[in-house]
Amino acid sequence: MMISNERILLCKPHLGGEERRFIDEAFADSWVTPLGPHVDGFEEDLKKFLSASDPTLRSIEVAAVSAGTAAIHLALIMLGVGKGDEVICQDMTFAASANPVVYLGATPVFVDSEPSTWNMSPSLLERAIADRIAVTGRKPKAIVMVHLYGMPSDIDAILGVAARYDIPVVEDAAEALGSQYKGRECSTFGRFGVLSFNGNKIITTSGGGAVVCRDAADKKRVLFLATQAREPKPYYHHLEIGYNYRLSNISAAIGRGQMLVLEAHIAHHRMLADIYRRAFAECKWVEFHDNPAADYNANFWLSTILIDPANPGRATPLSLLSAMGALNVETRLLWKPMHMQPVYADAPAYTDGTSESLFSRGLCLPSGPWVTPAQARAIAGEIVRLCSAQTES
Ligand SMILES: Cc1ncc(COP(=O)(O)O)c(C=O)c1O
Repeated sequence: MMISNERILLCKPHLGGEERRFIDEAFADSWVTPLGPHVDGFEEDLKKFLSASDPTLRSIEVAAVSAGTAAIHLALIMLGVGKGDEVICQDMTFAASANPVVYLGATPVFVDSEPSTWNMSPSLLERAIADRIAVTGRKPKAIVMVHLYGMPSDIDAILGVAARYDIPVVEDAAEALGSQYKGRECSTFGRFGVLSFNGNKIITTSGGGAVVCRDAADKKRVLFLATQAREPKPYYHHLEIGYNYRLSNISAAIGRGQMLVLEAHIAHHRMLADIYRRAFAECKWVEFHDNPAADYNANFWLSTILIDPANPGRATPLSLLSAMGALNVETRLLWKPMHMQPVYADAPAYTDGTSESLFSRGLCLPSGPWVTPAQARAIAGEIVRLCSAQTES
């Protein structure tokens, strides 16, 4: 029997209703360009949201761009990453965290996860930096730290290692808008922060992203690079290579509407996580990926679980993916670690088996605003049943 007649997706875009009003305004004023009042307004809304928790963050600035991937690319350019450099990157992530390193002719060096957060292991990071210095004679140019599925990294420890070696950190918070670490918003810890507003994220602009900058000077330079590096002359004059990465005013109009429902979306993701947490607490074969300590407050962009391979139902992430698919429920395996990706086979990697083990046991569950509490309970119940049922040998 289906859990729902309509397919239950991991995180289907959810519009609050006000988006259309902002879009209509943009049409009425012919602001259908990659700049305009909604771009400015969206940046201001984001800045307010990110800095609300901490008065020391009042000077941050947000640059809205066409994608999270573009934001990572721009952040790395801002840090001077170029040909022949190495950039340390979390091993377990979506490829977009690492690909911009390659766009710049640099090499990603992958560092495995720690079991508690599933994010970059601070001790392996330290080992990797020391080893890269020994092997190449140069320290890595930057570190890309990711908050996977909205779970904050061990930020203090990572920033501590980075500071010891004086290496800047790009904080890939594409999945972590609304997550907090020690009460402060993720994306505000790194030298640059990155957000994504892709269709399946906590809020969407259909496609879009942002660079979170420390000050207005950084934002000015990011926007210069994002708008073709056009010098301030009465004619088109270029001293540097630029990019066409600015967010459109129409996308920003959607973003402004989405900012009105951001808090409700985050609350919904956390409410579903709580349902999954409780439902799996009684089942020893399924482990809910939870905040590891009080310092962490994940947005639970996606609720995720680990399946014990010894479960009597002989369920695996792949068998569950298929069984849940037959019930009209989308689930997804965890991100396949970068060191296992053929395209990155030659990249240096510092691994200890954690990300491979997580990948072999993990599953992402429907987590967005369209998923009802009853559906989440039914999904969890079915997974528990499939893992607990004795199978014929
Ligand atoms: C961890 C991570 N980094 C970067 C990105 C790239 O964002 P975008 O799709 O907006 O380019 C995504 C999502 O798509 C992501 O999940």
